[in-house]
Amino acid sequence: MHIKKLAGAVGAEITNIDLTQLNNLSFNEIRAALFSHGMIVIRDQNLTPEAHIALAERFGPIDINRFFAPVDTHPMIAEVRTKPEMTHVIGGTWHTDHSYDPAPAMCSILAARALPPFGGDTLFASMTAAYEGLSDGLKQTLRTLRAVHSDGSFAQSNVGIDAQTSAFRQPVVHPVVIAHPTTGAPCLYVNGDFTLNFEGWTPQESAPLLSYLFAHATRPEYSCRVTWKAGSVAIWDNRLVQHFACADYAGHGRLMHRITVEGETLAPY
Ligand code: SIN
Repeated sequence: MHIKKLAGAVGAEITNIDLTQLNNLSFNEIRAALFSHGMIVIRDQNLTPEAHIALAERFGPIDINRFFAPVDTHPMIAEVRTKPEMTHVIGGTWHTDHSYDPAPAMCSILAARALPPFGGDTLFASMTAAYEGLSDGLKQTLRTLRAVHSDGSFAQSNVGIDAQTSAFRQPVVHPVVIAHPTTGAPCLYVNGDFTLNFEGWTPQESAPLLSYLFAHATRPEYSCRVTWKAGSVAIWDNRLVQHFACADYAGHGRLMHRITVEGETLAPY
């Protein structure tokens, strides 16, 4: 397996590996690469839906997203589909998958199924680099705070998300700076799609600092960009990165299959 960094803070490209043929040693290398780079894109795969599920289950039990349309034949897989006539795409703003859950998904595994002739890249930003890039004073303050996360933004979704009222749950609270559950690394854990306010602060009081953090967290120097190719599979750790799907292929369709893997409750750094 060949691992090449994509940018200074986040992301690596892996070639010369077949994800359907991983032994324990090579799986552990993939997992270690995920924790050290936050996001890995593995090229030239031929993952059937069954192999996609089998790969996800090596990381842990599958966490089925309650808003996304399932793939008809494989309900454990979520469909991320852009129709040619759509002007917005699923995930088209910076976000963290499932931060609205009490135990947010550990990782997401996205497989390219049908790509537009240009565009449709996905960007990732390192939440460890974002935390490290703050002043000592702000780091200290943020480490004392928790923030409220909600799935409410799905109610306004215009991208084919199935926002049934029965899917919505009560908001949850997470530390603003979490310790990565495996490595202990600090990660800034607030995102523009799902974080509403700091616990004990009003949304109005929270907005200036949250806006600053959302913009800071996604600075170009903390990020990388994946250009998809047929057969590409990306795996990202939702505690370590935020991501953004680029809606720059108007008039063309795009189909991806996504599986999220169960995570755990998050502890402060
Ligand atoms: C997502 O937000 O999970 C989708 C990312 C993508 O389609 O590139």
